[in-house]
Amino acid sequence: MATVTMSFILILFLSLISKGFYACSLDNININTIRSGREIQGKPEWNVTVINNCNCPQLLIKLSCKGFQTVENVDPSILSIMDDKCLLIRGKPLEGFASVKFSYAWDPPFILLPSESIVVGC
Ligand SMILES: *[C@@H]1O[C@H](CO)[C@@H](O)[C@H](O)[C@H]1NC(C)=O
Repeated sequence: MATVTMSFILILFLSLISKGFYACSLDNININTIRSGREIQGKPEWNVTVINNCNCPQLLIKLSCKGFQTVENVDPSILSIMDDKCLLIRGKPLEGFASVKFSYAWDPPFILLPSESIVVGC
């Protein structure tokens, strides 16, 4: 009986670990925003890093960016603003553990959150 319980716990534990490593989702898209220290047209500049914190590529990544404004040009091949959603790297795949960076300038900063993506290859 004890062995059965032990094996059950072990299997549960292993499946949790493998989920952690292999099941990628939108939750693995992390967005960090830091103040760069520069000012552009009187607005603070923010450096944003979007990281795919999992081993599978994700594509068609969109961020919620309702009301997003910037006085600094953001390269549309990195972030294209489409109303309240922003498309990252033109919808191309962001590889596992890869990141993209962009900067914008506005006061206050925007809370950019991942809103959609498609996980591929897992
Ligand atoms: C912010 O981004 C700019 C442009 O990529 C870079 O030169 C600068 O070092 C970054 N600043 C910080 C604090 O990461």
